[in-house]
Amino acid sequence: MSTPFVVAVDGPSGSGKSSVSRAVARHLGAGYLDTGAMYRALTWWCLESGVDLGDADAVVAAARELPLAMGADPDEPGVHVGDVDVTEAIRSSQISGRVSTVATIPAVRSELQLQQRDLITVIGDELGSVVAEGRDITTVVAPDADVRLLLTASEDARLRRRTQELHGGTDAESVERTRDEVVRRDRDDSTVSSFLTAADGVSTLDTSDLTFEESVAAAVALVDAAREG
Ligand code: DC
Repeated sequence: MSTPFVVAVDGPSGSGKSSVSRAVARHLGAGYLDTGAMYRALTWWCLESGVDLGDADAVVAAARELPLAMGADPDEPGVHVGDVDVTEAIRSSQISGRVSTVATIPAVRSELQLQQRDLITVIGDELGSVVAEGRDITTVVAPDADVRLLLTASEDARLRRRTQELHGGTDAESVERTRDEVVRRDRDDSTVSSFLTAADGVSTLDTSDLTFEESVAAAVALVDAAREG
């Protein structure tokens, strides 16, 4: 069996990371792994089962037992915990507001990173290629990936995009409501993994002034160059 082709994508919220990663996966006919959704699903499960997010040991135990199933279809990346489809629920503002507490526990990260490496192997073996996105994929989870890409964008651009996504408009009040999520969460998250600047050997794509189509075209060009090289 040939070695799977792995594309690792990192970046802060609003950088275009998820939509670009999914488009690249479609282009390659690859599987897709949203590692942020795994931290979100764990947060959902802890809240659902009454685990105190301040009790790091209890959250780590929950991470080890989490009955998680990640869909790898870039068109429909469903997330299940046990029998429950949590695809929508993990995007709620309640989860977005608390997920950093879970994602900044070092032993939780080690556990989910193990699970993420396994998933990349399983999906890659099945489909021949996989695009995995998150905050530490290029550096910790898959540092040997065939393509390592950091998507960045100015704070203004990220705030505008997330506001549009969450509230369907970019009026001043909606922007302020989104500011906490984008700015505070990235600040908290960046204390445990450095995804605001590219590590050695990681290509940077600044999407601030690019349309979605232009961002995808630039990412696809990098991926195609690596496949041909
Ligand atoms: O990309 P997202 O907003 O769905 O990520 C959810 C949270 O998980 C966010 O607070 C950052 C964190 N995260 C992480 O620490 N490492 C990853 N590989 C992916 C996400």
